[in-house]
Amino acid sequence: MNVLGIETSCDETSVAVVTDDRKILSNIVSSQLSIHQPFGGVVPEIAARRHLESLDSILDKALKDAKCTLNDIDAIAATTGPGLIGGVMVGMMMGKTIAAVHNLPFLSINHLMGHALTVRLTNNVDFPFLLLLVSGGHTQLLVAKSPVDYELLGSSLDDAVGEAFDKTAKLLNLPYPGGPSIETAALNGNDRSYILPRPLLKNSDPTLKCSFSFSGLKTAVREIVLKHSINPQFISDVAACFQKAIADILINRTHHALEFCKERYPTLKTVVVAGGVAANQHLRSHLESLSHEFSIDFIAPPLNLCTDNAAVIAWAGIEKLKLGLKDPLDVKARPRWPLTEVKQL
Ligand code: KG4
Ligand code: ZN
Repeated sequence: MNVLGIETSCDETSVAVVTDDRKILSNIVSSQLSIHQPFGGVVPEIAARRHLESLDSILDKALKDAKCTLNDIDAIAATTGPGLIGGVMVGMMMGKTIAAVHNLPFLSINHLMGHALTVRLTNNVDFPFLLLLVSGGHTQLLVAKSPVDYELLGSSLDDAVGEAFDKTAKLLNLPYPGGPSIETAALNGNDRSYILPRPLLKNSDPTLKCSFSFSGLKTAVREIVLKHSINPQFISDVAACFQKAIADILINRTHHALEFCKERYPTLKTVVVAGGVAANQHLRSHLESLSHEFSIDFIAPPLNLCTDNAAVIAWAGIEKLKLGLKDPLDVKARPRWPLTEVKQL
């Protein structure tokens, strides 16, 4: 079975063809980075227009790379949320139209489900697994119980972790997206140069043990920046301190989540990190050590499948098809759509 995936929820226009036996036949990702970079973030209207302009040719390329035509496709999976609604509409309408014209099943895909299930495409990981979802819009710890059933253990009370990277990079005059810029700058920095807070870590409220907060961290960086002249060594030092603070917070919260899972999900054997921030090597190596402490496997998807792409959307579609699920053509786009609500499909 070949499933065509379409992803347009943020600033990557992507189309892929994936088979139900885990082969990625094609995965074309066209980044809009250069057009948004001068604005220091993604401009929703510009993103939607660019998706509309480029989607046709990206579809052609994806089919060509996969050496197939639409006649060889068995189902269409498109991201229908959460994300920037204009872009989501563009990809969703393209998906629905192909499904209608070629009389194919349409699969409405939650973008976060794509990130969550990537490790089942790459490593065939069994349920349940603990998922640390860290992207530009989300920071969550969840237990994935099935492709469409997730228990939320905790999430960010303010900024998402990717957003914290992006905002902090801006304060340091580093280019967007902030995550990779900060990671590169931190390579030459001393992570003990400045003291940064670890918000919530000392909070004793048991209901917040797996929750996150990053806005205080960003404010602390702003105060340091105001007191210093910005030079390359200063930028590297602050970047290193910031990256370490973020990793400390994520590791502490994941530790709590693993303790919870030991009681509640004794069969859980894997920790998975997903979303754009999962590309961060510093975070990956610390998560790996933590997982080993608990004698649990740690899996991070390859970097090209961590950031937004349509192969993982096609795969999420395959997971739905395997459960006998498909969606009507009048399904709506949802700008906000928590993973805990995908089971209501
Ligand atoms: O999942 P994603 O590609 O898009 C969303 O769905 O949000 O995540 C994008 C986020 C951006 O905030 C970016 O700064 C961050 O992922 N990111 C990173 C790294 N690469 C991307 N953060 C930290 N380290 C990285 N290497
Ligand atoms: Zn994403």
